[in-house]
Formats: sequence, structure tokens, C-alpha cells
Amino acid sequence: MGSEPVHLEPTGSWHGRAPGRVNLIGEHVDYLGGVVLPAAVDRHTDVTGHAAREWSVESDIEGGLAYVRCVGEEVGAPPQAVRVSSDVPPGAGISSSAALLVATAAGLRPDMGGLEAALTCQRAEQRATGVQVGVMDQFASALGRRGHALLLDCATLDYKLVPFPSELLIAVIDSGEHRSLADTPYNQRRREAEAGEPKRRRHVDSEIARVYAFVEALHRRDFDRLGNLLKESHQSLRDDFEVSTPKVDELVEKAWAVEGCYGARIMGAGFGGSILALVERGREQALVAAVGRPVIICATADGAFAGARAD
Ligand code: GLA
Repeated sequence: MGSEPVHLEPTGSWHGRAPGRVNLIGEHVDYLGGVVLPAAVDRHTDVTGHAAREWSVESDIEGGLAYVRCVGEEVGAPPQAVRVSSDVPPGAGISSSAALLVATAAGLRPDMGGLEAALTCQRAEQRATGVQVGVMDQFASALGRRGHALLLDCATLDYKLVPFPSELLIAVIDSGEHRSLADTPYNQRRREAEAGEPKRRRHVDSEIARVYAFVEALHRRDFDRLGNLLKESHQSLRDDFEVSTPKVDELVEKAWAVEGCYGARIMGAGFGGSILALVERGREQALVAAVGRPVIICATADGAFAGARAD
């Protein structure tokens, strides 16, 4: 891996496109070999490029160069001049970084398998940022499937598609507390959990149990149960894993109180960022009015490498 020549189109230019992601449940367990339930969503990053003397990125969003260069180096590509356009908001919890990484990989190496792409992009993100991220975000952006969430076992990397009910809307609400992962205690939390620190372990064990319970409740279409599991997940992330903030807690509580909102929780790495809420279709305006923050209503989408799998 990493030494294959890059396959360029005859014109020498290439294009890749990849979605952002949400995580329904299973937070801060991917890097411990736990199970997670993310979905790719209908916000995308497009990357075009061509070989050049040195790596460069043209984008409305700053900071993409290290990501693009690290993916390129991981796949053995020579330097590229890259242009990025994206409707995945940065720093807001739907993984603009995974979308950028996976779009670049898809453009440079469209022949790669989705799993290989996810692992390549995870390594690239770790190198670009120094943050020891798990594989969840890149996996969802590469292999997500419209109409589904992915039940991913991060120990074996086996996954199953779990149908996502069309009556439920996924709302991502921006807390306004934006952060770069490298400036958070993400690596520290990972070390504490790996060392078996009791509160951190309690979160991990209870969160993994909640992922399985959530999948069962999805099959039964028990939406109240889904909502309660989101609430429990938030409490565990707040009290045991300690990755929430007072502002995020306040936002989550506002969402909990909205009629038609089944539940909500902090999503992604935390320390600010966004919250996820599941809302009954048709009730989303009440949520928007109640939280007083920008809300993105997302639908599930195909990952950049979703076509590669036969099922
Ligand atoms: C970030 C990381 C993921 C995962 C989540 C927390 O999004 O990139 O690998 O660890 O945080 O669940």
C-alpha cells in the first residue's frame, strides 16, 4: 500500500466527491475496538486536482493542505494542485475532514476498495493532525449507504447496513463552539480509556450496549426507545467521558424539551461542535424555533466508495 502509481485521467485532472457523516450512537468507542452506528449524509465535498510542482489547495475553508497532502502521500501520488468546494460546514461535527480526505482518495485512487480507502484516510488524518482518531468517520464517508446507517465493528471492521426509517429526520445543531480536534483533550481521553480508568471504561461499556439496543429499537421502530438511548448516551458522555460543555448541555436539554424530538446528544469528538437530534418528520420547524441555533436537516447518503460493494 502507498507505492501504487496514481491513475490519472488522460487530461491529467481528476475529481473526487465524498459525503460528511453523522454518528447515530457509539461515541468514543471506535478507537477501542467498539461498535458504532454512523451514516453518510447528503452534504458533500468535491475535490479536483492535477499534478503540479508542489502540493497546493485552493478552498474557501482554510487548513485543508495537510489533509490533502497526507492522503496523496499515503496513496503514493506526486504533488497535486487541488481545488476544494464543499457544503460540509467545517468544525460543526459532521466531519468535514473525513469528507475532504475521502474525496481526495476517491479522486486519486478510484480503484481502491472502500475499506482500504477508509484506513488510508484514517492514517492520513492521524499524520495531518497528530490526533489518534478512530476509523469511524472515514469509514462512513467511504462506505455509507443511502437509506441506511452502518453498524461497524471497529475491532474486525465487519459492517452491516441497518435500514434507517424514513419517518425520522436527522437534525445536526451547531452549538457555535467550534474547535480543532488537535486543540482538544481527545488523545488524553483515548489514553485514559485505554488505561482502563473506571469512569471512562463505564462510558465505553455502557455506550457499546446502547449501540446494540439502538439497532434493536430501529428494527422494532420503537422511536421513544431510540430517544431514551440518545439521552443516556449524552449523560454518559457528559458525566463519565467528560467531553461535553455547559453550552452543549444546554442545547441538548432544549432539544429534549421539544415536542416531536425523540432525543438528542452531543455528537462526534465533543468539546463543543454539534449535537444530533432525531425528530419526527413534520416537526422539524418546532425544533428549529426552540433551539435558536443553525440546524442542518440531513438525509442519509451513499459513501464515495459505496458502489464497490455488491449488496
Ligand atoms: C472523532 C473521531 C472519530 C471518533 C469520534 C468520537 O469524530 O474522528 O474517530 O473517535 O470523534 O466518537
